[in-house]
Amino acid sequence: MIIRTEIEQDFKDVYQINFQAFGNREDESKLVERIRKSEEFVPELSLVAEKNNEIVGHIMLSKAIVEAQNEVHTVIVLAPIAIKPDLQKQGIGSSLIEEGIRRCKALGYGLILLIGHPSYYPRVGFQPARKFGLELKQFEVPDEVFMVYEVEERKLQEIRGELKYPKAFFS
Ligand SMILES: CC(C)(COP(=O)(O)OP(=O)(O)OC[C@H]1O[C@@H](n2cnc3c(N)ncnc32)[C@H](O)[C@@H]1OP(=O)(O)O)[C@@H](O)C(=O)NCCC(=O)NCCS
Repeated sequence: MIIRTEIEQDFKDVYQINFQAFGNREDESKLVERIRKSEEFVPELSLVAEKNNEIVGHIMLSKAIVEAQNEVHTVIVLAPIAIKPDLQKQGIGSSLIEEGIRRCKALGYGLILLIGHPSYYPRVGFQPARKFGLELKQFEVPDEVFMVYEVEERKLQEIRGELKYPKAFFS
């Protein structure tokens, strides 16, 4: 299996993978399309997993802000991630997240935030975000599903405030 940057020829497969992984609904596929067209899109952070010349997974990481009283920090949000249903639970999702983290580090982003399954993301190093002074008001979610990964040391001490997802997340 290889993990590589998504290219235009993958768009149709990425749409299908998201559609299938999320139970035959279009929401996440459309979210990917809106993010791609937005200012927050980072091409090197839309990744596909390819096995035997077939796209089997996709992860999108893109920019958002954390706003405090006098400061605005750029962070990365992870959403969506989707693995082909018959190939789930084989480590493909974890591999995509790990490569995403490596790339965020190389590009100089300090934190990755997400809303997700509280039993899945801690396996790859995510922790509940609110206890670090990070807030989320746009979506009403329990503490344990709003999570953060510290890409660069000390960023969890430096960056506090409200995570604001950009327009692309609101259709
Ligand atoms: C969630 C998802 C991305 C994980 O990718 P994956 O390749 O299946 O996961 P991995 O193989 O890396 O990790 C597998 C482990 O995570 C667990 N896991 C997988 N999906 C999970 C979920 N939805 N909730 C909790 N744990 C989950 C598995 O039970 C497995 O644990 P085990 O090894 O103890 O059996 C994938 O299952 C998927 O596409 N799901 C549908 C779409 C979705 O829910 N996306 C995430 C929204 S937050």
